[in-house]
Amino acid sequence: MKALVYRGPGQKAIEDRPKPEIQAPGDAIVKIVKTTICGTDLHILKGDVPSCAPGRILGHEGVGVVDSVGAGVTSFQPGDRVLISCITSCGKCEYCRRGMYSHCITGGWILGNEIDGTQAEYVRTPHADTSLYRLPKGVDEEALVMLSDILPTGFECGVLNGKVAPGSTVAIVGAGPIGLAALLTAQFYSPADIIMIDLDDSRLGIARQFGATHTLNSADNKAAEAVKALTGGRGVDTAIEAVGVPATFLLCQDLVAPGGVIANIGVHGYKVDLHLERLWSQNIAITTRLVDTVTTPMLLKTVQAKKLDPSRLITHRFPLDRILDAYDTFGRAAETQALKVIIAA
Ligand SMILES: NC(=O)c1ccc[n+]([C@@H]2O[C@H](COP(=O)([O-])OP(=O)(O)OC[C@H]3O[C@@H](n4cnc5c(N)ncnc54)[C@H](O)[C@@H]3O)[C@@H](O)[C@H]2O)c1
Ligand SMILES: [Zn+2]
Ligand SMILES: [Zn+2]
Repeated sequence: MKALVYRGPGQKAIEDRPKPEIQAPGDAIVKIVKTTICGTDLHILKGDVPSCAPGRILGHEGVGVVDSVGAGVTSFQPGDRVLISCITSCGKCEYCRRGMYSHCITGGWILGNEIDGTQAEYVRTPHADTSLYRLPKGVDEEALVMLSDILPTGFECGVLNGKVAPGSTVAIVGAGPIGLAALLTAQFYSPADIIMIDLDDSRLGIARQFGATHTLNSADNKAAEAVKALTGGRGVDTAIEAVGVPATFLLCQDLVAPGGVIANIGVHGYKVDLHLERLWSQNIAITTRLVDTVTTPMLLKTVQAKKLDPSRLITHRFPLDRILDAYDTFGRAAETQALKVIIAA
C-alpha cells in the first residue's frame, strides 16, 4: 500500500509499505477513505516531537471502512464505516475510567506518532471498540474527518476548559483550524462576544464568517489594549491560546479579566514567562489539556443534527498519490489560504 512516511527532520516520502495486520485481539484494520494533515504533523516534520521515530507513517485523523477485526472486537465488523479518533483508548485503565483518554496507559496519542498512522491506504487501530466511532447515516464523510482531532480539541481544550458561558466574553488567539474549531463550538454556549486575534487578515475574515463578533490583527502589538477597550476595561472571561508560541501565551495573560480562565491549546516547544507578580491577585485559572476526544459522540450528534457544519473548514482536496502537494499547500497556508486539506485514499 501507499503511505506517507516521516524520514527524519525535514524529510518525508511516499513509500510502498505492506498492508498492516492484526497484532492484538482488540485491533481493527481500517481501509482509509479520507484523511487530512494536522499542524502537529508539521511539528513532527520540524523534529519537534521526539516520540515519533523516522520510518513512521504519519496521520492521526480520518474516516474509513473496517476491513478486518481481531477476535476480541465486539462492536465493529468488516464493512462498518467509522471515524478514527486521534486518541486511542482502552476504556479500562485508571485514566480512561476518569475520561482522560489522552493519558490511556496503552493508548493516548499514538497514531501517526508511536505507531503507524492514517496517511496510508490502511491503518491498524488498537482498542478498536473504544477508539472508533460508527458514522451517522447521511452525514458528509469529509466533514466528519474534522471530528478526529480539531473539533474535539477546540471544544475540550478551549471551550470546556475555558468555561465559556452564556453572555460571557471570549478571546481566541490564533485563527488556524484549531482556533476556528473553538470559535464554532464556543457558540453552543451563546457568549456575548468572541474576539478572534491573528496576524493573518484572510483568516480573520474567515473568523468573521464563522461568527466572531470582533477580529483584531495583533501585528501592531496593541491587541491587549483593543480587547480592554471592547470589554469596558475588564478583559475577557475566557482567553483561549490556539497558537503555541510564547508571544500568544503572554498575550493571553494580558487579556484575561479578574476571575477569568486562560485555556491553553497550543503545543509549546519553548518555555514561557508566567507573570504571577500581576496575576496572583486576579482569581484566574490556567488550564492545559491534551485532547481526550471524550466529546466525540456529542459532536457527532451536533453534526448529524446540523447544529455544527465542520465542512466549512475544508479548503483543498487531493488524492493520496499527491499527498506531497497537499503538504506543500498546507505548509504554505498564509499564501494558499489553506485551512484543512482532505486527502482521498
Ligand atoms: N492540545 C492539543 O491536544 C492539541 C491538539 C491539536 C493541535 N494542537 C495545537 O494547537 C495549535 C494550533 O493548531 P492549528 O492547526 O490551528 O495551527 P496553525 O498553525 O494552522 O494556526 C495558528 C495560527 O496562529 C497565528 N499566529 C501565529 N503567530 C501568532 C502571533 N504571534 N499572534 C497571533 N497569531 C499568531 C497564525 O497566523 C495561524 O493562523 C498548534 O500548536 C497545534 O499543535 C493542540
Ligand atoms: Zn492533530
Ligand atoms: Zn486506557
